[in-house]
Amino acid sequence: MHDLHPNQASGLRLLKPARPVRVIAVTSGKGGVGKTSVSVNLATAMSIAGKRVLLLDGDLGLANVDVMLGLQPSCNLSHVLAGTCTLEDTLLEGPASLMVVPASSGKQHMTDLTPIQHAGLIQAFSELSRPLDTLIVDTAAGIDDSVITFCQASQQVIVVVTIDPASLTDAYALIKVLNREKNIRRIQVLTNLANSESEAREIYENLRRVAEKFLDVTLSFMGSLPQDEWLKRAVRRQRAVVEAYPNSPSAKAFRELAAKADRWSLPLGARGNLEFFVERLVNRPAEGATV
Ligand SMILES: Nc1ncnc2c1ncn2[C@@H]1O[C@H](COP(=O)(O)OP(=O)(O)O)[C@@H](O)[C@H]1O
Ligand SMILES: [Mg+2]
Repeated sequence: MHDLHPNQASGLRLLKPARPVRVIAVTSGKGGVGKTSVSVNLATAMSIAGKRVLLLDGDLGLANVDVMLGLQPSCNLSHVLAGTCTLEDTLLEGPASLMVVPASSGKQHMTDLTPIQHAGLIQAFSELSRPLDTLIVDTAAGIDDSVITFCQASQQVIVVVTIDPASLTDAYALIKVLNREKNIRRIQVLTNLANSESEAREIYENLRRVAEKFLDVTLSFMGSLPQDEWLKRAVRRQRAVVEAYPNSPSAKAFRELAAKADRWSLPLGARGNLEFFVERLVNRPAEGATV
């Protein structure tokens, strides 16, 4: 059999029926505000609802998705980058068939990758043959290059904030970088630990007023997550609260948030596999490109 010319190969790939993969980054300016809890439980809620979900631990310094779900990784993203494992090898099974790619705890920045690691990562994601509906990336906090890179590679960015003034000023600083440097124009805000729905909306409104006044960005209120002892208990038991305590207030909130995220429209041009995500992850589109 003759090898296909590269153009023929890419042409054939385009002919395949493409199901767009929704890519969502969960991030924050300040640490400890609930990003990993949100990522793990949104992903699990979507899986329970029948979606095929991949949860990528993008906190390359303080990986803890696997800890939160009580999973024991034998290899992780750093092995993929080193070429000693495939992405398939790293996949762990979470609740309701959720797929998890664990990160390593150690210093590794997406922006520090060598050309060989870049190529390895692109290959790893393009070879992942599992059909997917949604990819959720749990990022580190702050304005590190790796955080910005994951956000710009995603179609939707959720910024988690709390009532803590530092979480709001840090969220503003992060949104400013995403907007000014990467031209990200839409941000979903999720408030955590507010005492009431009206307090949650007030936190959001304060952030929206400042961001929309000084930046070219539109903020949307994704919703709020109440303070919930059941969530703490689930974290201690290394389980997702939506699976361990489905009747708890936070589990109910997570199901609503997951249903909402599922209704977000997919941007034009979203493609049927993860190449879109990886291309953006490693190539970094020119400034001015829209997300
Ligand atoms: N709504 C909540 N109710 C109770 N505990 C929470 C809530 N949100 C977060 N926590 C707790 O706060 C801690 C930090 O959350 P985590 O998701 O690890 O934050 P991050 O990923 O932003 O650092 C966890 O132990 C978690 O149980
Ligand atoms: Mg975290």
